[in-house]
Amino acid sequence: MTWILGLNAYHADSSACLLRDGELLAAAEEERFRRVKHWAGLPVEAVRYCLAEAGIGLEEVDHVAINRDPKAHLFQKALFAFKRRPSLGLIRDRLANAAKVGSPLDELAAALSVPRDRVRARLHPVEHHLAHLASAFLVSPFEEAALVSVDGFGDFLSAMWGVGHGSRIEVRGRVFFPHSLGLFYQAITQYLGFWSYGDEYKVMGFAPYGRPTRLPEMERLVQLHPDGSYTLGLDYFRHHAEGVEMVWQGGYPEVGRIFTPALEELLGPARKKDEALDERHADIAASAQAMYERALFHLLDIVQRETGLDRLCLAGGCAMNSVANGKVYRRTRFRELYLPAAAGDAGGAIGAAFVVWHAVSQAPRRFVMDRASWGPGWSDADLARFVERQRPAIESEGCTIETAPDDRALVEKVAAAIAEGAVVGWFQGRMEWGPRALGNRSILADPRRADMKDVLNLKIKRRESFRPFAPAILRERVADWFEEEDDVPFMMQVFQVRPERRGQVPATTHVDGSGRLQTVTRAANPRYYDLIAAFERRTSVPILLNTSFNENEPIVCRPEEALDCFLRTKMDLLVLGRTIVRRAG
Ligand SMILES: [Fe+2]
Repeated sequence: MTWILGLNAYHADSSACLLRDGELLAAAEEERFRRVKHWAGLPVEAVRYCLAEAGIGLEEVDHVAINRDPKAHLFQKALFAFKRRPSLGLIRDRLANAAKVGSPLDELAAALSVPRDRVRARLHPVEHHLAHLASAFLVSPFEEAALVSVDGFGDFLSAMWGVGHGSRIEVRGRVFFPHSLGLFYQAITQYLGFWSYGDEYKVMGFAPYGRPTRLPEMERLVQLHPDGSYTLGLDYFRHHAEGVEMVWQGGYPEVGRIFTPALEELLGPARKKDEALDERHADIAASAQAMYERALFHLLDIVQRETGLDRLCLAGGCAMNSVANGKVYRRTRFRELYLPAAAGDAGGAIGAAFVVWHAVSQAPRRFVMDRASWGPGWSDADLARFVERQRPAIESEGCTIETAPDDRALVEKVAAAIAEGAVVGWFQGRMEWGPRALGNRSILADPRRADMKDVLNLKIKRRESFRPFAPAILRERVADWFEEEDDVPFMMQVFQVRPERRGQVPATTHVDGSGRLQTVTRAANPRYYDLIAAFERRTSVPILLNTSFNENEPIVCRPEEALDCFLRTKMDLLVLGRTIVRRAG
């Protein structure tokens, strides 16, 4: 038996996964255990969980795969240092960060109280973008596909592309530091006043309120080349000359200012954090999204033409841009697309682990990731016992407890409550891998109610009013409700809602008529599927509003966090397995 532990470590969205003979057993992001969003550092708690799930100790692990290789592209790094003469601070920061890698086995052994000499695993560094490509292709259903990874930076690259055949990945192109589409988008995100790590999705959500009137300026920031690559107008960026302050280690990741004063000369003054969003800001967001799409589809077109393949695997942080992903079929000649549940850096743990598995085993591919439930889980009986232990606290808050006798009764009761306007915390089975709640740690509500967005924001989420909520739809109904049809199991593509349907689901239809759908099959998640089907029987709408189960924190992992979130917010129902906690009145 071969055990492989995969890690995304010393980086934001730190995570771990465990493979047994090339089959994934467990995967989770460290933030869910530490309760700090995007937690960066060594994922000790995620490793502890993966090992416990398999019932093994660190001593039994054969290989540890990590999604970075500080030795990659040393020549290009030296050349850059020679030509551009970056500040000593930039070089020092990079060396300090690189020095961290190489000791994860020592640190893991110490953290898990295993004597170092009993850890026999070999450490395998896997280049960052190779791990991204692998995180999609090596778990996809495709035997052969074009592969593209686009992100901020990893191991001195911001993009890599190539072809996957069987268990082999052939790299055909790269974009080197300091040029990066991820950094371009992040710079605009900061310029628009969103400074938290991972805030790019806010710009994507805000873009439909504007028009891409500032595209000519964006073309000065990003220039496209005939080989599919791109360069940045470096005058507008600081990262290559002065370096950008980054705090990664052991906590919440923070990134300093990326853009130079030249960007404000080009676009006008940057938005202050608390300044109201206006039309100018919306047009800049729309223009940045349009520029990103133009660059991505330019690259995809060339990769498609050069490979002649019509299947695509897309990964890297930029592949979280579900709006662009939703246009791949319309804007390119690709006809099938696989997007992993964790396209960003967390997913690198999976990619690195599968690269190492195929290298050591030479085995053909077997595993396909078609569901996201790889995290900590609790059975219905565990959850019923948990609620019983918490009964005094629950009843003292004026809530009642009931347990549905079977699944049918459960989904009928919950569907009825949702149809009457209840906001429901839905906690089932194993936690999702990746940044999206997909029906196991979700808050569910009625998509037909125009006021539901405000209700949710008032009761629980308190997020920016422009951000849309997502529809979870029965897979076989997609063509009735959307203009495109595909499997979207991980909520990674945005499609247009059919115009005649938009008025029926106002709470999950964005201002431009789009919806970031999740397609739900009975095979992947029977109870969730049956709940949506029960809602459809009552309302003729095969869709539920689905948002992550949290309140300005990482998605809840344990039942304790779910109950806590329920009690401190104004949710109406909490469903843990088959047990229902109902708020009175
Ligand atoms: Fe990355």
